[in-house]
Amino acid sequence: MKGKIKEEDINSVRERNNLIDVVSEYVALKKRGKLFWGLCPFHQEKTPSFKVDPVAQLFHCFGCGEGGNIFTFVMKAEHLDFPQAVESLANRIGYKLEYEAGSAQEPSKKDRIYEANRLSALFYQHVLLKTSEGERGRSYLKERSLNTDIVRVYGIGLAPQAWNSLRNYLAKSGFTDEELFNAGLIVKGVKGNYDRFRGRLIFPITDIRGRVIAFGGRVLDGGQPKYLNSPKTPVYRKSSTLYGLHMAKSEIVKRGCVLVVEGYTDVLALSQAGVKNVVATLGTAFTIEHVELLKRFSDRIVLVFDADTAGARAAESASAYLSEFRLPKMEALRDLERRSGAAGIDVRVVVLPQDLDPADYVGLRGADDFRKLVDSAEPFFDFFLTRELDKYNISETQQKEQAALAGFKFISTLDPLTHEDYLYKIAQKLKLDEKALAVKFNAMFKKSIPIQNEARKASLNPQDKVERSLLHLLMKYSDIRKKIPAEIEGDYFVSPAHAQLFAVLKGMGAGKFDTKVLDDLDKSLGARATELFLAEPEYEEEEISKYFEDILKSLKDFYYKRQINKLRQELESQPAQKDKTRYDALFKELIALEAKRRDLR
Ligand code: UTP
Ligand code: MN
Repeated sequence: MKGKIKEEDINSVRERNNLIDVVSEYVALKKRGKLFWGLCPFHQEKTPSFKVDPVAQLFHCFGCGEGGNIFTFVMKAEHLDFPQAVESLANRIGYKLEYEAGSAQEPSKKDRIYEANRLSALFYQHVLLKTSEGERGRSYLKERSLNTDIVRVYGIGLAPQAWNSLRNYLAKSGFTDEELFNAGLIVKGVKGNYDRFRGRLIFPITDIRGRVIAFGGRVLDGGQPKYLNSPKTPVYRKSSTLYGLHMAKSEIVKRGCVLVVEGYTDVLALSQAGVKNVVATLGTAFTIEHVELLKRFSDRIVLVFDADTAGARAAESASAYLSEFRLPKMEALRDLERRSGAAGIDVRVVVLPQDLDPADYVGLRGADDFRKLVDSAEPFFDFFLTRELDKYNISETQQKEQAALAGFKFISTLDPLTHEDYLYKIAQKLKLDEKALAVKFNAMFKKSIPIQNEARKASLNPQDKVERSLLHLLMKYSDIRKKIPAEIEGDYFVSPAHAQLFAVLKGMGAGKFDTKVLDDLDKSLGARATELFLAEPEYEEEEISKYFEDILKSLKDFYYKRQINKLRQELESQPAQKDKTRYDALFKELIALEAKRRDLR
């Protein structure tokens, strides 16, 4: 098992990766002045508030407050912990990490599952490509025009027909039946345990980092069920997984769009044809969890439905959205916007012509035609609304009214900004007067929605401003750091976060500020540090020492003032005659502070 990653390796990985390149895999950045700007990958926005400093190798978003160095970015973007982020960046540049010996720990249950899965995928692919039993699979793939390249990219394999091939193979690598059962690789039977997948073509399912987390197995003949899938395990939940995402993600970012199809083979066929920004759901509806996963890579999602399943799938997806945003509605609406679920994300639907699935379609018509079809996709909620309304026979007045109600109910859960458009659509479709419809809708559903305050916009109090300015200077200029008077301590700061950061900076001495220190800070403190570092300077470079002096003065002034107030309060609550010596001491202290404060001017 891996130990701790060596310090010098962490540094090499940091130095050899460029934050600008890494961020650019997620969002487009534009250079403006010394900084690069883009739309924040961590929250939904229309104008860029995400900035990256190429020299300091730091990022910060003043919209959502996220910020940090290259490791922080990868941790956040890929949902990784620190060592995983280092590993991911090492992989990116083909750097081989060394782990410190001695700190080895027992592999966790999950690690064992990942390892068993990884070995299983290799085993299955070996069987497919290198054995005579594999011939069945190879000829099946040939029949479906899937070539060896795509088989390798997606790690396709074949499970042998026998009952215990995989189990025996993994037993030799030290895996117990219990572990294999936990991984979903074997099944417990009355006559003993046996391999879950037998005689099937195997599709390894990977997570966003490319680790194998589960398998799908397709029959090669007409057997049942057509697909057998891994059960839920500690590393696999199908409702939060998308097949092929790891392979597709860079293409998704490049194209600014992701296609979601229904089947494994659709992903393979499309990818082979050159349409690589494609993933598949795993036999489930497309849910809000999938949106959460995909929105990090693209805000345009096109659901590609087979004609025969379109209705059912759309209904499932819509109800998943809606149940996610159940009443109380106002809360839900705000939540919807905050999480930039359906509202901020452009989800569209395209339905394939009868009897064709994406694999058939691209096989018959080619990639260009398929892309054209995708370009004609309709917004999800329009699509769903139309299907809802189509359920009613609107030549009957009563049904017309019911249709309108169904439409209202549906749109009332959506972004209020879209209500007008949808009401118009319902009016058109049902041949009703738009104004009358709007009046009725408003009477039934409209509530005022409080507008959220943008925390960032709130003007800062003077104390906070001074603390921020000082920390900014201390991070950026080492010679200024040398000039911090010894008397300044954490209690000069009101914000505990600032006090903590100040302690770190004071302890750093005169060296150049190293973004490395951010790795040791906790997440929110690191983000604050980056924010302050990248803050717009409010001073001219020439007059920086004057600026520093002024800030220092204000900081002291505020501090003395707080102390003075405290003393005054104490003096007031303490009658002079009760404890004369204590009273005099406090009074003397007060006078001294007042003098100090006067001296500042
Ligand atoms: P399809 O029946 O459309 O299969 O099911 P497919 O992927 O297009 O495969 P081919 O083209 O017939 O070989 C779509 C998806 O539904 C899930 C699988 O994820 C499949 O890819 N499914 C289907 C199951 O989980 N179990 C089944 O029995 C059938
Ligand atoms: Mn199919």
